[in-house]
Amino acid sequence: MYVPDKVVTNHDLAKIVDTSDEWIVERTGIRERRFSAPEQASSDLALIAAQRALDMAGIGPEDIDQIVVATTSPDRYLPSCACTVQAKLGATRAAAFDIYAACTGFIYGLSVARGAIGTGMADTVLVIGVEQLSRIMDFKDRNTCVLFGDGAGAAVLRPCTPGDGIRAVSIHSDGMIGDLLEIPSGGSARPASHETVDRREHYIRMKGKELFKVAVRGMDDSLRKALAEAGLTPADLELVIPHQANLRIIDAVRERTGLPPERVIVNIDRYGNTSSASIPITLDEVVRAGRLKPGDHVGFVAFGGGITWGASVATWTLPVPAGANGTGRAHVAAEVPRT
Ligand SMILES: CC(C)(COP(=O)(O)OP(=O)(O)OC[C@H]1O[C@@H](n2cnc3c(N)ncnc32)[C@H](O)[C@@H]1OP(=O)(O)O)[C@@H](O)C(=O)NCCC(=O)NCCS
Repeated sequence: MYVPDKVVTNHDLAKIVDTSDEWIVERTGIRERRFSAPEQASSDLALIAAQRALDMAGIGPEDIDQIVVATTSPDRYLPSCACTVQAKLGATRAAAFDIYAACTGFIYGLSVARGAIGTGMADTVLVIGVEQLSRIMDFKDRNTCVLFGDGAGAAVLRPCTPGDGIRAVSIHSDGMIGDLLEIPSGGSARPASHETVDRREHYIRMKGKELFKVAVRGMDDSLRKALAEAGLTPADLELVIPHQANLRIIDAVRERTGLPPERVIVNIDRYGNTSSASIPITLDEVVRAGRLKPGDHVGFVAFGGGITWGASVATWTLPVPAGANGTGRAHVAAEVPRT
């Protein structure tokens, strides 16, 4: 994982919009988030996370067959963020492409990697989730600008014994309710113009309350479907890594699945919602903290714009990294301070 150095607290945002630390913590669980430096593009964040993932996997850029970048905030429309990362990384053999599934992007990426490796099309797939949401948020809209942050996470996927690794992926979409979370202009339907800029239509717009209900239902449902496909139950999961959109959403999903708080990982207080980056960021913290051992079952679950949602269940195969002491910074839902 990589997050930019700049920490932006709720108090900092309260100087820009009509909000307060109390409101943000109580309604979302967020205390601070990271914002990129002006000279950083999404591909720069992705590059650092990718290099760290390759180091951890003990492979080089030349070993990568496919680079899959999940992002809603690419450097630009053309070329794809994945191709830019490929060039910066020097992964000359790799095919590279982006996935546009908003906050569910990393799970969609896992499904692509699983398919490519499972069919023998690829041996080594680098899946990256990266966002610079600070670039597409409206700092005049308190409904959204307090929620999001910047960051990147990456994972190297390789073949393993059947029954290990990614056991199931369950992905879903409902474009009928796509306008719950949108950037209205800038695409082919409404290209950028002076008017669209004046109307602030290049920023994220959200109907938060409606989205909340869809999120809880979709996350619960897809996690159950992935578990059923893997022949497991919630009680079999040592850990669940949920997309970090809102602590209340995470709690509601946890209650529905009957999981104890210590099995559901939360770091939203430190990073806010980093969209497609939130699951791989959290996974890295969990792995480096020594919280996953070979044979552990781990669930990933997310929802996001589209609307999209999905879950994956994996049986962990990698050894605990040297130096991990089980007390790293990643913590569980019950440990998140509440006001
Ligand atoms: C956005 C969200 C935190 C809002 O929480 P909520 O409890 O639903 O709050 P509401 O939308 O009902 O707003 C309650 C009040 O707080 C106000 N409010 C909104 N943002 C605020 C902020 N940053 N600070 C202070 N007040 C705020 C609203 O204007 C509203 O005031 P009103 O009652 O006078 O109209 C919550 O709905 C949510 O997290 N939804 C899911 C969104 C999400 O995860 N999106 C990303 C998808 S990956």
